[in-house]
Amino acid sequence: MTRFSGKVVIVTGGASGIGAASAARFASEGALVTVADMNEPADLPEGATFVRTDVTDEAQIAAMVEATVAKHGKLDCLVNNAGIGAAMPTEHLPLETWERVFAVNSRGVFLGCKVAIPHLEATRGNVVNVASISGIGGDYLMSAYNASKGAVVNFTRSLAMECAEIGVRVNAVCPGVIETPLAAGALATDDDREHWMERVPLHRPGQPADIAAAIAFLASDDASYITGHNLVVDGGITAHTGQPNFVRRWANRARTAQ
Ligand SMILES: NC(=O)c1ccc[n+]([C@@H]2O[C@H](COP(=O)([O-])OP(=O)(O)OC[C@H]3O[C@@H](n4cnc5c(N)ncnc54)[C@H](O)[C@@H]3O)[C@@H](O)[C@H]2O)c1
Repeated sequence: MTRFSGKVVIVTGGASGIGAASAARFASEGALVTVADMNEPADLPEGATFVRTDVTDEAQIAAMVEATVAKHGKLDCLVNNAGIGAAMPTEHLPLETWERVFAVNSRGVFLGCKVAIPHLEATRGNVVNVASISGIGGDYLMSAYNASKGAVVNFTRSLAMECAEIGVRVNAVCPGVIETPLAAGALATDDDREHWMERVPLHRPGQPADIAAAIAFLASDDASYITGHNLVVDGGITAHTGQPNFVRRWANRARTAQ
């Protein structure tokens, strides 16, 4: 497939996890990719360029976008993927942690869009933000992360309204639990993993490639009539009302009785 042949795509946080898989997916479909990350990736997809960037810093984001446009002459898609987590009771959460989480997860998305919009207007390009299902519901001990991702979800809708006027689409993906270094702690032991998977109807953690496929879809012309959408990619977690899984319970009971 070459849906992105000749297209220029920036992936922030592209050195690891979902970002690295997205950079690889875009490159495999013909895109010229800029991997913008604070950390240098172990390897880059073919034709990709690494630009060291802290997404919380307006000057660094602006320089990275300008370097991309200077190199390739245009910008077709910005994937705002860089993100960090924090898990702590709110009463003990240092203000600096709250502000750092917002700086990376929310401010970084705003700054990327702010700088990229004029270039995307020129190509009638698009933005894909990486939010989270944690942006559409609450989790235990994750108030800063939940709030910062909630901001991304509604920023995506708001910017989609604004940018529809200039022919630029703006969407987001909302991943569930995905097997990356960010989620490694949550899936560290067999017991933790089993506990998590009880909440995932498809009974497996997502892989970075699962999210990369959804990002590539939203960025492609296949999604040309989609804007302002937050696409949930979570193995069914948020489809669930929260009622107990009695099907599994009955099956386990029957197994124990044998
Ligand atoms: N893994 C999950 O379960 C999951 C679930 C929902 C949403 N997400 C979101 O997906 C995105 C990618 O996360 P991941 O799981 O691949 O994590 P990851 O830790 O594997 O990758 C995150 C990348 O972002 C980079 N980064 C962090 N701060 C940065 C900054 N200030 N400037 C530039 N780069 C920075 C890191 O260096 C790293 O390469 C994040 O926005 C995260 O919140 C992840």
